Amino acid sequence: MKKKVVVLTGAGISAESGLKTFRDSNGLWEEYRIEDVASPEGWQRNKKLVLDFYNQRRRQLLECKPNRAHTALAELEQKYDVSIITQNVDNLHELGGSTQVIHLHGELLKARSTEHEDLVYDWQKDIAIGDTCEKGAQLRPHIVWFGEAVPKMDEAIPLVRQADIFIVVGTSLVVYPAAGLVNYTSYETPKWLIDPNDMALPRIPNLKFINEKATIGVDYLVKQLLKE
Ligand code: OAD
Repeated sequence: MKKKVVVLTGAGISAESGLKTFRDSNGLWEEYRIEDVASPEGWQRNKKLVLDFYNQRRRQLLECKPNRAHTALAELEQKYDVSIITQNVDNLHELGGSTQVIHLHGELLKARSTEHEDLVYDWQKDIAIGDTCEKGAQLRPHIVWFGEAVPKMDEAIPLVRQADIFIVVGTSLVVYPAAGLVNYTSYETPKWLIDPNDMALPRIPNLKFINEKATIGVDYLVKQLLKE
């Protein structure tokens, strides 16, 4: 049976594809206020502002391609059972070829009904005021905003518990509950964290830090793991 690799990713893995991270200098949260564009209260206050923010993100995403870090993780499937748990709302893991991807924070290329949560649609264009679900309710971005539940955690936690190898790439690990996933790994599981910046490393056993950009660090680690 193939060993199970679980990878937790954040905005940093898509940075070299041209998508801004949130908290680096010049990141998205310097330009916008979280409470304005990524909270239920912001949506109630100004739907147009929120739609514009995600419409812009979606247009940008449609111009982007997966980078070497995304494609390397897909190649790892040759030898391992790989599950990606991503905080990213882009589809670059899928475009890179990964087949098992959980989006903890939703997906930019989907829209969902504001009144019927289960009505979710593939969506490539802008979402406008007046775009509705089949039951007539306004559509919103299919994004988990601050203060909202993260239902995909229920799928993610058991995967992390089963991991034989655990890899974290390009996340500041400050947003919960996603950041707490590292605590579900077992003691003996080898763990790697890949990030080009110095950061406060999580206090978990058997952790190695690869202080590189995703394209370099993931490529390196995947090559090592494919050799084992
Ligand atoms: P952050 O912007 O908080 O963190 C990005 C991380 O990527 C930092 O640790 C950077 O050092 C690192 N990084 C930068 N360039 C990189 C590169 N080329 N290769 C690898 N790493 C690099 O982004 P997240 O941790 O993903 O949620 O943020 C978590 C959540 O907060 C997001 O999902 C989003 C945000 O608010 C919502 O909007 C709900």
